Amino acid sequence: MNGKFIVFEGPDGSGKTTILNKVNEILISKGYKTNLLREPGGTFISEKIRDIIIDNENINMDAKTEALLFAASRAQLVSEKIKPLMEAGEIILCDRFVLSSLTYQGVGRGLGIDEIKAINDFATGGLKADLTVFFNIDYKDALIRKRANFTADRLENEEFDFHKKIFDAYLDMAKLYQDEICEIDASKSIDEVSKSALDLILNILED
Ligand code: TYD
Repeated sequence: MNGKFIVFEGPDGSGKTTILNKVNEILISKGYKTNLLREPGGTFISEKIRDIIIDNENINMDAKTEALLFAASRAQLVSEKIKPLMEAGEIILCDRFVLSSLTYQGVGRGLGIDEIKAINDFATGGLKADLTVFFNIDYKDALIRKRANFTADRLENEEFDFHKKIFDAYLDMAKLYQDEICEIDASKSIDEVSKSALDLILNILED
């Protein structure tokens, strides 16, 4: 597999989706052909699973059900899109991947990192990103930023301490896996954050 698989990760409201779109436009203007994907979602079946996950009516969803749905959505995305694109040598920019499940379900929901890693290894066949860009911004600033702009869905409505746990988990993972996860300061302006993300990506693409 000689494609490049680049993942954007960070807390809710960290701005990664905005930056992902901006960076994508810049890459296209530089002549790169890219494929944008988002999680949960990215395929017809995965988007249906996404609707179940974020539905505000599913307030009684068990944490294990949620974790398995994220993994199911991901399994479909990997087999239908990511693997074939990688085999074809394409560039993939993906909004969230396994690290989101490790932080949100493993730590946030308290299901355990090892347990979530195991179901995700099964779902993805152990596929790893070539680069994970972590948008480092304090969870409170990020949430406030997001709430000013959007109607909160079920997951975003969780209490601040849930988001604090997730943010701390991101920081821990970024420290633990320094070779795979590159951190950028996401509290800066859109142009500055875009430039930091772009520099990391170009580094990988021009490798
Ligand atoms: P989304 O609405 O795409 O939010 P964002 O633009 O911030 O990424 O994601 C929905 C929510 O799903 C978000 O709160 C993060 C959460 N999530 C998990 O809990 N586990 C996962 O594995 C993934 C991919 C997302």
